[in-house]
Amino acid sequence: MPTRADETIEALLLEKRRFKPPKSFAARASVSTSGVYRKADRDFEKFWAGFAKELEWMKPWRKVLDWKPPRAKWFVGGKLNASVNCVDRHARGPRANKAALIWEGEPGDQRTITYRELLREVSKFANVLKSLGVKKGDRVTLYMPMIPELPIAMLGCARIGAIHSVVFGGFSAESLRDRINDQGAKILVTADGGWRRGNVVPLKKISDEALTDTPTIERMIVVKRTGGEVSWRAGRDVWWSELMCDASANCPPEKMDSEDPLYILYTSGTTGKPKGILHTTAGYLLGTYATSKWVFDLKDEDVYWCTADIGWVTGHSYVVYGPLANGATCLMYEGAPDTPGRDRFWDLIERHGVTILYTAPTAIRAFMKWGTEWPEKHDLSSLRLLGSVGEPINPEAWIWYQKFIGGGRCPVVDTWWQTETGMIMITPLPGVTTTRPGSATQAFPGVRAEILDQNGRKVEVGGGYLAITRPWPAMLRTIWRDDERYVKTYWSKWNKDTYFPGDGAKRDKDGYFWLLGRVDDVMNVAGHRIGTMEVESALVDHPAVAEAAVVGVNDEIKGTAIAAFVILKEKSQTGTAATGGNGLRSELSAHVAKKIGAIAKPDRLFFTADLPKTRSGKIMRRLLRDIAEGRVLGDTTTLADPAVVSSLKSQYEDKEG
Ligand code: WT7
Repeated sequence: MPTRADETIEALLLEKRRFKPPKSFAARASVSTSGVYRKADRDFEKFWAGFAKELEWMKPWRKVLDWKPPRAKWFVGGKLNASVNCVDRHARGPRANKAALIWEGEPGDQRTITYRELLREVSKFANVLKSLGVKKGDRVTLYMPMIPELPIAMLGCARIGAIHSVVFGGFSAESLRDRINDQGAKILVTADGGWRRGNVVPLKKISDEALTDTPTIERMIVVKRTGGEVSWRAGRDVWWSELMCDASANCPPEKMDSEDPLYILYTSGTTGKPKGILHTTAGYLLGTYATSKWVFDLKDEDVYWCTADIGWVTGHSYVVYGPLANGATCLMYEGAPDTPGRDRFWDLIERHGVTILYTAPTAIRAFMKWGTEWPEKHDLSSLRLLGSVGEPINPEAWIWYQKFIGGGRCPVVDTWWQTETGMIMITPLPGVTTTRPGSATQAFPGVRAEILDQNGRKVEVGGGYLAITRPWPAMLRTIWRDDERYVKTYWSKWNKDTYFPGDGAKRDKDGYFWLLGRVDDVMNVAGHRIGTMEVESALVDHPAVAEAAVVGVNDEIKGTAIAAFVILKEKSQTGTAATGGNGLRSELSAHVAKKIGAIAKPDRLFFTADLPKTRSGKIMRRLLRDIAEGRVLGDTTTLADPAVVSSLKSQYEDKEG
């Protein structure tokens, strides 16, 4: 285990505060006794089958689980449709006129869409796709702002069995292009733009750029969101509204096999190339349905708000599939938390009567920094439950959230999971679990998590690697077009029946899990995964750069910030010697934004003549982290050239001084 993680854990284990579920909460909670854990453990297949019976099937399954490690098939032989489960079955019954989505744009415009209306929209869009020749198994890329058309498009795909792949609106044209080409998508759905901090994110323009080299794309469907000028390619580009007004609102859902693909979502790994995580229909839907129901204790009268962008897995599972499968009312917000003021979230909660809030530690830390006067301006008494996701939450932020947002009366659920797990895996149950700030507590019933050491030996109390030692319904099935990487990355660290998430963790004597962050070369920047290699490749792609090393460093708000160490070429391609300076610094930063997206821009960039390497040539990343964090350097005796470090240190001191 890295020493930094050890320091973190020592601090965490000093955390003695405990919070029992409030009596009034527990009294009404869907789960209020710990017996569910034992029951689920005794027969986990039966446990999941119990939830599966709450979904609507077109044909029942023959077998709950077929597990030939590392291949799982869940609900074998079953047929169902995800859009029917998220929409039709509510639209047919007493929830028909219940709000499925309450949407608010950043400029303040609002739309409410009932389940009945959602069914019409989803069916119409499904027919639009069909009219454009989209068939079951075809890929459709969605590059959209947080507007209702995004979940409508996802569910429209699911209705006809097309595989959707949402690309977060913050990614660059090149990232979008690479993802489209990896999928071989036929259709791209985008918008003219989206609002972010009062500015327009020019999605259509970025899409035009991406589509200069995407041979499989036949059509681009464009939602008019901002009304700004856009360029247009006749024959390829079509307005969403024009297609929708002619489409029939009746579209019989495709009978999908339990194991038919539902979507692909890309996430960063330890190489320069992102992984297309593949999720399938029944297991994923069931996993998100069950966890939404129990972790968020969803009730019909709740107004539930997950603040994540749908471009990330949190939005897929807990803005769209999980809550809608439960027939919940979901608030969806387009923009930034500080537009027009730093109280936008609290204003939204007050006006819409939000009862459940699910957000990220990085946001909570920003709110802490902005001060309590912002939430204090608003009546937040509608809130009854708070959730956290995306990265470890430090006890200080946890306590602040509980006290100033939850008014001391709401349970806080810190939920650990990943793009790959599809569903929440380690979490409190709010009516059952005594929580401790900084701990995600226990595996969800039916899920089995353990701490293993390097050799796969179980660690009962202490630190090591987190491992998932039993299949779970929403597990990824493969990496799109790279099955070998799937086996290698996730199922080869120990035995092939044991899943390796890439996180370090510790288990205390009460059996609680304390998650410590990634143990691989993946950074978690403001709750988003970015591979160090991805940023390094983007930097090296610049003509002035000879070599680059990227490390994640501690950051008060983002959790992890990106620090880059760059060696310049002796002579740049223009023939003049390149020298590091602020001009080049911002040029390199812009280059990374162009290659990946603004989220991957280095926060700190150091120019160096050399990198600290061991005598065997390995970059000493820990040393780089020490330098970037301005720490006193530890042992450098293994260093090939100690002068490198003193030069880097003086650069750091110049910058800080
Ligand atoms: C990685 C997964 C899960 C949706 C958002 C991120 C870290 C996530 C927690 C948590 C500690 C957490 C892990 C994990 N992470 N939630 N509650 N406590 N760490 O999804 O982009 O797939 O990233 O985020 O390191 O491996 P993702």
